[in-house]
Amino acid sequence: MATHGNPVPMIAHGGAPLQGVAEVPGDKSISHRALILGALSIGETRITGLLEGQDVLDTAAAMRAFGAEVTQQGPGAWTVQGVGVGGFAEPEQVIDCGNSGTGVRLIMGCMATSPISATFTGDASLNGRPMARITDPLALFGARAFGRRSGRLPMTIVGAESPVPVRYATPVPSAQVKSAVLLAGLNAPGETVVIEREATRDHSERMLRGFGATLNVEDSADGRVITLVGQPELVGQVVDVPRDPSSAAFPVCAALITEGSDVLVPNIGLNPTRAGLFETLREMGADLTYENPREEGGEPVADLRARFSPAMKGIEVPPERAASMIDEYPILSVVAACAEGRTLMAGVKELRVKESDRIDAMAVGLRACGVSVEDGADWWAVEGRGPGGVPGGATVESRLDHRIAMSFLCLGLAAQAPVSVDDGGPIATSFPVFEPLMRGLGAKIERVET
Ligand code: S3P
Repeated sequence: MATHGNPVPMIAHGGAPLQGVAEVPGDKSISHRALILGALSIGETRITGLLEGQDVLDTAAAMRAFGAEVTQQGPGAWTVQGVGVGGFAEPEQVIDCGNSGTGVRLIMGCMATSPISATFTGDASLNGRPMARITDPLALFGARAFGRRSGRLPMTIVGAESPVPVRYATPVPSAQVKSAVLLAGLNAPGETVVIEREATRDHSERMLRGFGATLNVEDSADGRVITLVGQPELVGQVVDVPRDPSSAAFPVCAALITEGSDVLVPNIGLNPTRAGLFETLREMGADLTYENPREEGGEPVADLRARFSPAMKGIEVPPERAASMIDEYPILSVVAACAEGRTLMAGVKELRVKESDRIDAMAVGLRACGVSVEDGADWWAVEGRGPGGVPGGATVESRLDHRIAMSFLCLGLAAQAPVSVDDGGPIATSFPVFEPLMRGLGAKIERVET
């Protein structure tokens, strides 16, 4: 069960270059999916490189509660004995998904077409996030949802007794919504179709195929049309989880803004549905190179090399790129604060419903650090202060949001005065080795004794 416990105040000091190799952990999106599809398969799934962050551990516990056997065999090495599509048992206890929107939304999807009920909850961040985007399409399959006002957790999902397949156009660009519908479609007869106007991360599609589902993707005038044939027999697989580009973003960006830095981040997946940040940084003039580019498990992979880049300039980030870097805007805004000129980030209203309202959390914290930020409902703009130009010297609220905490600690490495966060505890949800990894590169990031 995920509790963040007591707050963990942290501080980052500047003045030290970052140097060396940063081995970041496994991809969070792929780790959740490997456990879930393993649980929905017949036989054993063997996973290596699993992210052992709290979000993923909560999904592992949930899969056990629905009847799968999930076992840690060694660091990052896990096995899942699945129960097969339609084989979920009704959990005896409330399912606590902690901080994880991906966990709760995907799990709601995969239980909603079985004749069982389950009650879900999470931490204060997750219990404040919208769930109607999931329960609306699940209702079309025949599932019912009973939650708090305006569709918040805690919430009980009563699975459909006789599910029907669904054709659903996602109203928001969200891989979680798309994936919940596809997972629900697994236990419905016939074809379930999801249409997404903008391409979002495609890990579910790739992995469903890998586990034996028949899934077809076509581009049409309405967007990407994904058709899944229901009631397949999924078969356990070997899954080697690639490293997380969203975690790589932190040492990469910290190196770009910290004088004297030169950091190598090996083996990072550059799936085009995830790599928008790196493209944006290169457009800003970052000294960021892809070394040893190759294909692994059907995915483009490279070693990222990031060096201090004093010549970076603000840009207008193309709104159509938002889905491919949606989790990276907080750290991009830190780089923008250290670049020359204005960076405009538009088409990003989804940032307002992440683990926190990320536009507001970053705008408030950056202003406290002496950076001008303007923001509107679905855009924000950061006025760069140039290399070494951010005053810093503030304590920022991380709002139970791992990426806000890590972003401000990275800013502290390049600011004139140290930057503190009130609570670095949430970092453990996605990047449990952030502190030793960054300190290993030379970063002065410390816990503050209270
Ligand atoms: C995720 C999808 C994204 C992303 C989240 C992980 C996933 O959320 O922000 O961190 O694994 O499907 P949305 O689908 O809400 O955009």
